[in-house]
Amino acid sequence: MHHFHSTNGILHAEGVPLPRLAAEVGTPTYVYSRATFERHYRVIDQALAGVEHTVCYSVKANPNLAVLQLLASLGSGFDIVSVGELRRVLLAGGDPRKIVFSGVGKRDDEIAAALSVGIYCLNVESAEELARTEAVARRLGTRAPIALRVNPEVDAQTHAYISTGLKTSKFGVTMAEARDLYRRAAASPHLRVVGVDSHIGSQILQLDPMIEAVARVLDLVELLRAEGIPFESLDIGGGLGIAYRDEPTVSPFEWGPTVADLARRHGLHLLTEPGRVIAGNAGLLLTRVLGTKRNDSKSFVIVDAAMNDLIRPALYSAHHSLVPVLEAPDRRIAKVDVVGPVCESGDFLARDRDLPELRTGELIAVLGCGAYGQSMASNYNSRTRAAEVMVHGDTHTVVRARETLDDLWRGEAMLQPQALWAESDA
Ligand code: LLP
Repeated sequence: MHHFHSTNGILHAEGVPLPRLAAEVGTPTYVYSRATFERHYRVIDQALAGVEHTVCYSVKANPNLAVLQLLASLGSGFDIVSVGELRRVLLAGGDPRKIVFSGVGKRDDEIAAALSVGIYCLNVESAEELARTEAVARRLGTRAPIALRVNPEVDAQTHAYISTGLKTSKFGVTMAEARDLYRRAAASPHLRVVGVDSHIGSQILQLDPMIEAVARVLDLVELLRAEGIPFESLDIGGGLGIAYRDEPTVSPFEWGPTVADLARRHGLHLLTEPGRVIAGNAGLLLTRVLGTKRNDSKSFVIVDAAMNDLIRPALYSAHHSLVPVLEAPDRRIAKVDVVGPVCESGDFLARDRDLPELRTGELIAVLGCGAYGQSMASNYNSRTRAAEVMVHGDTHTVVRARETLDDLWRGEAMLQPQALWAESDA
């Protein structure tokens, strides 16, 4: 469900025609729909109504301050993975007591920053990290609230790069190791066990692996409770997939009541860390056709957005739907590669795609780009990162200005000319 629709043959974001945004802000531009973000957050929240819960939006999906501010205003908590994300959430008005800190490699200063603002919980991913967390808490004279991220060894049946619950994964600790670590944590005056966490992957399109993972984690909780270790919360991670074309997805209203019921029966506060399901379809990437070309075997449409703006097709062979902003029902359909200007053959937004014939200068919308679009963007090929716009009804706000050329070399320095000459003389 999203609020990008064609009216009178022109694609709109809510009430704003996209050509107007392109004229005012330029391209490439990420365009977000506030109503869509709100709707998605509410769907997840309502789906979990059967249990006391906190939705901790996964900041990495889309960390724009306006997005975080909007979600914070709806009552969302946040799942962070770095001190940068922590600062963003705090800047945007997020409540530190609703923050969980995940990630396989937290630095001591990041752990300290999180403890000093009073986050809800650190999701600890190894024995060594548990010891470091304890040491940081001791130094700060506090007690670190922790959960262990356990690896339930369930196959999420998603792309290998975003599957995290397998035995071979770098994430979390095994069930057996978790038992020992929980005993150690429970005995420490500087650690406080608050819960347990798992996250088996992203873009998951089946309910069963998610439920299987929760069931395995709950067995661990009951085993440890029997030893007197208390648990107040269960964090089931993120991972709900979205339809990038028309693939069947797990309905939040099937998933929510099932996991809520499990948590409630075990007397646990439920935490979840959705990213993509909230942000994915709330954003599109608006790009303009720079030109077309054809060789003996292929036709190419060259657009002004590239893999540095949206890396998902190159990195995961991901499919994003492309639609011309101006509908043209009588156009011929042609098979084309839609590619960006970056100097790599992997720089494409679509390959061998049947699309209405596209003309130089026209606008195209790349759908499903609200999550892991701008958040994974880079300056490769010294390209400035795209602008970001949040639409609300028939108004819009530029929530991130397009980068300038000066932004590209901010912080860089050149060598002293004398040093350069001295070496080349030698
Ligand atoms: N929690 C943890 C611990 C995670 O690692 C992730 C995502 C999430 C929550 C949110 O997952 P979601 O609900 O968005 O599936 N760049 C990839 C996705 C990487 C996901 C990384 N972790 C992509 O573009 O598909």
